[in-house]
Amino acid sequence: MPIEISPSGQPFAASVTGIDLSRPVSSDLVQELRNAWLEHHVLAFPRQSMSDDDLERFTLLFGPFGDDPFIAPIPGRKHIIAVKRAADETAPIFAESWHTDWSFQETPPAGTCLYGITIPPEGGDTLFANQHLALEQMPGALRRKIEGRYAIHSARNAYAPSGFYGESDRAAGRSMDIRPSEDADATQRHPLIIRHPETGREALFGCAGYIIGIEDMDQAESWDLLTEIYRWQTRPQFQYRHKWQADMLLMWDNRSLLHMATGGYKGHDRLLHRTTIGSA
Ligand code: SIN
Repeated sequence: MPIEISPSGQPFAASVTGIDLSRPVSSDLVQELRNAWLEHHVLAFPRQSMSDDDLERFTLLFGPFGDDPFIAPIPGRKHIIAVKRAADETAPIFAESWHTDWSFQETPPAGTCLYGITIPPEGGDTLFANQHLALEQMPGALRRKIEGRYAIHSARNAYAPSGFYGESDRAAGRSMDIRPSEDADATQRHPLIIRHPETGREALFGCAGYIIGIEDMDQAESWDLLTEIYRWQTRPQFQYRHKWQADMLLMWDNRSLLHMATGGYKGHDRLLHRTTIGSA
């Protein structure tokens, strides 16, 4: 049976039906899915009944596993983390700020897979912002300020002991197993404008948060510029809002998107299993 790829009706993203991800996927079909992923950036697969083995097998169809620092994997698995929140939890929502996954790594992951297990009846949407569109529609004056420049990325604001998920977060009783570390202080440079390694299309890469400065610019100047870029690259016209269902798999491209979690489900549990697709 051929698969059906249905665009979301928003600026990007599509859903894929006519496939059972608990069964082997032929290499022709993997190529078709890869092409759809590169075209739509986010693919949603509703009504999939997947075990952790299925999730791992699906991830490996698109590359090696990425390296997931600062969050302990679920028991018995090396490459699956649980994105979870208990109904009565009061800690801030995990990942409720724009970012692209692990952009502070030397080779950040190509993509992320997230499988919905317990999904609240309302809220908990995931937002995405298309960084090809943001760059292509960027005013020339702003683009000229960033062309050829390198951003300095670091996990320190999030995962260092003094960071957002550091020592103070422990007291908040978060249910996710986050492991802050001094390793988060490391920095890594990446161009502010990248060329997508598979499509060759240019995109903005990363945003203020994991980006802590711009090379060869003082802190105040680089912060002003990062704020200006952030306001532009997260505009609603570049966004897709993903609404979850239980048993839905989502895969997205970290090289062309920013994403963030949202709240709005107080009093309800939320649990998803996540893997990252490393860069081949
Ligand atoms: C994430 O950034 O991996 C989490 C997204 C979400 O919880 O919606």
